[in-house]
Amino acid sequence: MKRIALLLMIILSSISVSAFTGSYQMNKNSRIIEADKFVNNILSKMSLEEKIGQMTQITLEVVSQPRPNEGDELFLDVEKLNEAILKYHVGSILNTGGSANSLEKWHEVITTIQDIATKETRLGIPVLYGIDAIHGATYTLGATLFPQAIAMAATRNRELVRKGAEITAFEMRASGIPWNFNPVLDMGREPLWSRLWETYGEDTYMTSEYAREYIKGIQGNDVSDKSSGVACLKHYMGYSLPKNGFDRTPAWIPERMLREIILPPFAAAIDEGALTVMINSGEINGIPTHSDYHILTEILKDELQFKGFAVSDWEDVKRLYTRDRVAASPKEAVKLAVMAGVDMSMVPYDFSFYEYLLELVKDGEVPMKRIDDAVSRILRVKYLAGLFDNAYPDKSLSEEFASQNHTSANLASAQEVITLLKNENNILPLKKDKKVFVTGPAANLLSVLNGGWTITWQGNNESLYPQEKFTILEAIQNKVGADNTQYLEGVNFDSEINVTEAVEKAKNSDVIVLCLGEPPYCETPGNISNLNLSEVQLQFAKKIYETGKPVVLVLVEGRPRVINEIVEKAEGILLAYLPGMEGGRAIADVLFGDVNPSGKLPYSYPIAVNGFTTYDYKPLENANENVVQHQWHFGYGLSYTSFEYSNLKLDKINYEMNDDVNISVDVKNTGQLAGQEVVELYICDKYGSVSRPVKQLRGFEKISLDPAQVKTISFKLTAEDLSFIGRENKRITESGEFSVMIENLEQKFVLK
Ligand code: BGC
Repeated sequence: MKRIALLLMIILSSISVSAFTGSYQMNKNSRIIEADKFVNNILSKMSLEEKIGQMTQITLEVVSQPRPNEGDELFLDVEKLNEAILKYHVGSILNTGGSANSLEKWHEVITTIQDIATKETRLGIPVLYGIDAIHGATYTLGATLFPQAIAMAATRNRELVRKGAEITAFEMRASGIPWNFNPVLDMGREPLWSRLWETYGEDTYMTSEYAREYIKGIQGNDVSDKSSGVACLKHYMGYSLPKNGFDRTPAWIPERMLREIILPPFAAAIDEGALTVMINSGEINGIPTHSDYHILTEILKDELQFKGFAVSDWEDVKRLYTRDRVAASPKEAVKLAVMAGVDMSMVPYDFSFYEYLLELVKDGEVPMKRIDDAVSRILRVKYLAGLFDNAYPDKSLSEEFASQNHTSANLASAQEVITLLKNENNILPLKKDKKVFVTGPAANLLSVLNGGWTITWQGNNESLYPQEKFTILEAIQNKVGADNTQYLEGVNFDSEINVTEAVEKAKNSDVIVLCLGEPPYCETPGNISNLNLSEVQLQFAKKIYETGKPVVLVLVEGRPRVINEIVEKAEGILLAYLPGMEGGRAIADVLFGDVNPSGKLPYSYPIAVNGFTTYDYKPLENANENVVQHQWHFGYGLSYTSFEYSNLKLDKINYEMNDDVNISVDVKNTGQLAGQEVVELYICDKYGSVSRPVKQLRGFEKISLDPAQVKTISFKLTAEDLSFIGRENKRITESGEFSVMIENLEQKFVLK
């Protein structure tokens, strides 16, 4: 076992968990001091009722008229809205009340709400409106809807992630909405989980990098700016690793793993200045997170020095009683949650939280100090978001809403998402004069390209989608002309439609584009118990292969469905994930060579339904036989050109603890086409007091290279990059041997 560098251990624990050491926060501190002055003043004037109201969040349905059908126009119920704001003093409202609203409708809704809150209440405290703008302003009709997070992760392009977040913030604010329940920083390490596509994939380092970019994009330099918004990190923490793979079921995550794998992206985003977090809806180690003082107060607020507020997830305070039974009454549930550190309750259907909390404070069961802390946090965020200055929609932003610029950024993202997994005999790119037969259930639907959180919660109401956008089929028709394109769906996701006819048409084509995958889904309705692609689709693929025609498989799916039995006979395979509203065009661009693909897998693609391991597995997992197998490994993705790596160099062989390790490598485009490559840096800590993964990503850069062009790429590793969570559950760096790996090259070094 190696000597532990104690001093470094102390330094590192403060680097990795201290939330206000980042440059962003340094600049923001003066704003926080200013906010706190304002907040203390207003707090001193507030009644208990007004304070508790601030901690209460309701859904728009509570204050609007019923909307029997998705797509029906929304009308507020002003009487109920008055009751919510004037009687219960609610601090926040969320959601869309069924389906997306027009920009104008949002202006009307937000204006009505803020008129009551700021003009008719004693202290004029504005309402903080929040929404799930997961891949764009989901709930505003016509918004720019980007590839979902798992797809954005495949771009390995930090700038695109930041740009997407900036546009999202702009379009939310243009709708009058300042608060976004995103980014999802849960780790995507359980492929069965129905929310995998909301994550940035399986790697902690990569997720932390994207977390920072997303916060920069959403919150901008100043959250109060009219085109910035408040981020909400979710679902803090450990939600994404349910033991049985089903959404909202128990997770068992030891403290070391929590700190090594789950916590860092949240810490990074908080360091970057993220202002709110939403709490994990489930439980870890037998403790529902909404009642977990250790996680909500000791780690989040004490250790990470988080100055924003923690909102519950949907109905989850109540569920401590109704579902988890850690509280014996709904009132006890409120006490448990608030004392654990929940600052705002997404109740969201009634005012029970308000009533119970009022009683609890009056009975002395919840101290005023806790209420004041929660309310100060909420008001601080409202202040920083500029709501006390102006809580109204800025209609001048409407002009740039869903502008051509935004659409171009969306298309550029979708193009970099597409991941080429197989290209036998260089079947791709396809020539534009070929007769193409397009088939499969994902070929002609926009909803399938977008997935959940699109116009509606489940994202599956195709009739509400903007018809001017292109499905895969339509985009292919645009490329090669309708005459060269034949289409029949063949099967649905789970049933046959016209298989025989489809096979006949396939026989008469030059090439078949077979679009398979998953229908849209979100959260618990997306639970599955078998990771295989549906049997109907697998059988359909086999029938299509029997025609003997070349087949390009296009996969449109939120999670990596097992397709091992249909891989061999496909000549080309493209993975599109959920590429968003411009996904159809991006897929066609790659199919026909107008774009050279550059996406890389954000997860290890499973080869079988069981025995899944992430790329950063432990030596023990592969000790006896070759058990670790993936269909394609994390980071995999082909190009229409080729790259060669050489000259991997380190500036030294022996390093002191505080030295930087400077690394460089040459990358050459050895093919005929310009292309983008992702240079990935991995490390391996050879011997450690806690078993170390076989490899860990510690850097990535996306570069563009013309044919024959060479670039030298540099990376720097610090002691923190070499650290891990030791036996004492603290972050440490140990001296010893390490290796650095880039592509097929490896160099060793020693840390003294
Ligand atoms: C989800 C959250 C979401 C919230 C509000 C919950 O069901 O778990 O991710 O932000 O609803 O819509």
